Amino acid sequence: MNEKNLLQARGIVKRYPGAERPAVDHLDLDIGAGEFLSIAGPSGSGKTTLLHILSSLIQADAGQILFQGQDICAAPEAVRNRLRGLVFAVVFQQHHLLPYLSALENVLLPFLGGIKPARAADIATAQAMLSRVGLAGKENSRPGQMSGGEQQRVAIARALVRGAQVLFADEPTGSLDSVNGAAIIQLLRELNSEGLTVVMVTHNDEFAAQSDRIVRMADGAIQTLS
Ligand SMILES: Nc1ncnc2c1ncn2[C@@H]1O[C@H](COP(=O)(O)OP(=O)(O)O)[C@@H](O)[C@H]1O
Ligand SMILES: [Mg+2]
Repeated sequence: MNEKNLLQARGIVKRYPGAERPAVDHLDLDIGAGEFLSIAGPSGSGKTTLLHILSSLIQADAGQILFQGQDICAAPEAVRNRLRGLVFAVVFQQHHLLPYLSALENVLLPFLGGIKPARAADIATAQAMLSRVGLAGKENSRPGQMSGGEQQRVAIARALVRGAQVLFADEPTGSLDSVNGAAIIQLLRELNSEGLTVVMVTHNDEFAAQSDRIVRMADGAIQTLS
């Protein structure tokens, strides 16, 4: 297995019920360990659907997703759950934080399932994760007391707190102004330089240009550059 082979999509097809054309249509893509990949392309070209298939949130109708050489589509649900919970992390354009919880409590959620009292070790991990995204001192702030950029940092900390290897980010700067957006890209670059593989959908060419590689989608497939 070479560096290119952390995650490989092979012949992926996904058609939503009733849709005329597949949202993803015989798509192939290789993602290397430690790579920062941007996915660009017009609205409706299948970017979000692809990200959800790669991150095991939804299943393709056909094709294979190989993670470290193993087909995760064919894997038992327990294996897919483990990948979703511990190996893959997903952030979206909207941060989806719980408004009545503090930043620290939001980041602790993946440990808790929302019920048990938090363990001291998990609190320490969550605090360290908040520092890593530049939010030391903001532990007790609620989302409504933070800027949009800070809220997105909390969402990134929550996504990564259990030690994910791959971050999938679907237009993570889409609801931010250009200054806050640029700061989020800078954070993703830092996390990537520490070893995190990042797969980001973006409409912003300037942000995409800061990644290692850009692929463009059209009609559910990766466009080949001529
Ligand atoms: N849950 C869904 N049910 C039915 N059609 C969907 C659903 N999600 C997306 N689609 C359709 O699939 C295509 C690709 O959508 P999407 O993956 O969201 O593209 P993008 O993220 O590039 O805008 C579009 O035609 C969209 O309307
Ligand atoms: Mg989308």
